[in-house]
Order: sequence, then structure tokens, then C-alpha cells
Amino acid sequence: MKATEFDRGELVREAMRARERAHAPYSRYAVGAALLAISGRTFAGSNVENAVYPLSMCAERAALFTAVSAGERDFVALAVATDNGGSPCGSCRQVLREFGESIIVLIADSSGTYRETSLAELLPDSFSAEDLLEAGSYCPERV
Ligand code: THU
Repeated sequence: MKATEFDRGELVREAMRARERAHAPYSRYAVGAALLAISGRTFAGSNVENAVYPLSMCAERAALFTAVSAGERDFVALAVATDNGGSPCGSCRQVLREFGESIIVLIADSSGTYRETSLAELLPDSFSAEDLLEAGSYCPERV
């Protein structure tokens, strides 16, 4: 699939559907995400909270971990849906960065209105495996 041609509205709607499946009894802030892989497959994620609060997981990382566990490594876009168009948290930005900077990010509110940005815009001057490579701390052939 071509990296910029996809149905943005459909990806946002998928994130909104995932939001309905959030387990967020503590914050009452439901989040849904939908991650589109270059293969054309889409992976959904919801935030899953826990009575031990720090064990809670964000929707974006839930979607990413599901996708990577299914064998996907290359991504076109992520849609994230919240009540008020909240932006992906710093932890999710860094975890997504592991798989590329050019991922398009669609940030939607509960009406389905969204704005388009990218991971590079959300996380400029990021740290990645390149930094480890440069320092000789990481050699892909050895992992
Ligand atoms: N949350 C996400 O799922 N994604 C984000 O990027 C920001 C925050 C969740 C975590 C927690 O369950 C709730 O929203 C309130 O922080």
C-alpha cells in the first residue's frame, strides 16, 4: 500500500470503535487507537487500566504491541480517539518511534473531527537505535 493513500476517515472510525472497548474505570478517560500497517492490515488498541494504577496500558501501545506480535514492523498511520482530541503521551511516542519516524498520526475527538500530524512532528530530535549504532553499543547482526 502507498504510504499516504489510505482512508483516513475509516482509520479514525476504527479508533473510535476501539475506544468503546476501553477499560478505564479509574480515569474515566477512554482512548482508542487504530494502527495501519504497510501490509494493509489494521490493529486496534484500547487503554486497559488496572487497580494498581501504574500497570495501566495506553491504547496506542496496546495497538502497537498487538501489531508487532502479529509480525508487523512497518506502519503507515495511527489514529487515536479520545473525548477531547488528546494527543499521544510521550511514552507512546517513543515506543512508536522504534518503528519509524514517518508514521502519520490522526488525532480525533469524540465527534470524529481529527487533525493530522506525524510522529516526527510529535517527537522531534528523537532517540533511536541509530544513536546506539553510532556509539557502537548496538550491532543488529548480534541481536
Ligand atoms: N492514555 C492513553 O491510552 N493514551 C495516551 O496517549 C494518553 C493516556 C490513557 C492512559 C490512562 O488509562 C488514561 O488515558 C488517562 O491517562
